Amino acid sequence: MFSKSAKCLSQICLKNSRSFSTSNQVNSKVAVLGASGGIGQPLSLLLKHSSLVSDLSLYDIAHTAGVAADLSHINTRARVTGYVGPDQLKAALEGAQVVVIPAGVPRKPGMTRDDLFNTNASIVRDLSIAAAKYCPKAMIAIISNPVNSTVPIASEVFKKNGVYDPKRIFGVTTLDVVRANTFIAEAKGLDPNQVNVPVIGGHAGITIIPLISRSNPSVSFPNDKLDALTKRIQDAGTEVVKAKAGTGSATLSMAFAGARFAVSLLEALNGKEVIECAFVKSDVTEASYFSTPLVLGKNGVEKNLGLGKLSDFEQNLVKNAIKELKDSIKKGEDFANK
Ligand code: NAD
Ligand code: LMR
Repeated sequence: MFSKSAKCLSQICLKNSRSFSTSNQVNSKVAVLGASGGIGQPLSLLLKHSSLVSDLSLYDIAHTAGVAADLSHINTRARVTGYVGPDQLKAALEGAQVVVIPAGVPRKPGMTRDDLFNTNASIVRDLSIAAAKYCPKAMIAIISNPVNSTVPIASEVFKKNGVYDPKRIFGVTTLDVVRANTFIAEAKGLDPNQVNVPVIGGHAGITIIPLISRSNPSVSFPNDKLDALTKRIQDAGTEVVKAKAGTGSATLSMAFAGARFAVSLLEALNGKEVIECAFVKSDVTEASYFSTPLVLGKNGVEKNLGLGKLSDFEQNLVKNAIKELKDSIKKGEDFANK
């Protein structure tokens, strides 16, 4: 289901830059907020390599001048500009069609994503205030954790500013899909680039719900193996946090996943129909935000494809995730409205 965009990103990455055509491309400004960080830098590199980006706006509270100077020497289409500090946020955001937000602190071993709330909630709130003011029609793709709370924060900020469009605010859960594809492919000896596993729910622990019964190509596992694979996908972020031993969380795989999602948004803005899972305002379950496969188009979410057919095992996972999701959503909304 997701092979189109995954393939597209790898084609973009492998293409010789000299072959990029600019003649029939729509101008697209993409802003990366948190561009100097562990995710921000490789994400910006991948976006600089996409022929769909005409302007790449790199914003952070530190070091963007160096990152921008470095990237600007790459002979691809995107014009790169670095912006540093809140005084330059307006210029960074004006005219942006897509805003990707990886700003905020990452986990250390022993922490949950929710432990990041106290620091990251205000970072996402303040950046959302600026986006609502300077590029209210942009597609907003939030990477900063805890995604289950930061997306509701951004939504409340847009509401307060009278510019809320639930079709344009996304929590990026693409890394869960990328991981599910990889682990299922490894388990079955398949080409990971040809495996597509939808992942629904949210982006933390038991709220991450891989739909292995809907893998394309179709796969099956005995119950104990299915359980272990599901848990590995749910705990994959922690696997990286432990391996990095205090130096951060997933950055390179997240940059890949974030670039895939941003490129999908750009393709959709360019008139292509693209399907991606993302954490959005939703009425498909009791939780008011939920990730499901979405048809993306020029106006953001064109159609929510909903839960689809679930196995009994997956139905149970959804049931178990709802309380945590509701609590995290409420925590974000309360923070934004206090
Ligand atoms: P990092 O510390 O390496 O980088 C964060 C960057 O944000 C830094 O450059 C910092 O200067 C910048 N920043 C801080 N406050 C800012 C502000 N107010 N405005 C602009 N920039 C600001 O962290 P990282 O490893 O890049 O991770 C960033 C976030 O992404 C974390 O919250 C992490 O948990 C999250 N994450 C999410 C996913 C996901 O699947 N959604 C995956 C991996 C990481
Ligand atoms: C991930 O899934 O890798 C991210 O959410 C980062 C983390 O803290 O695990």
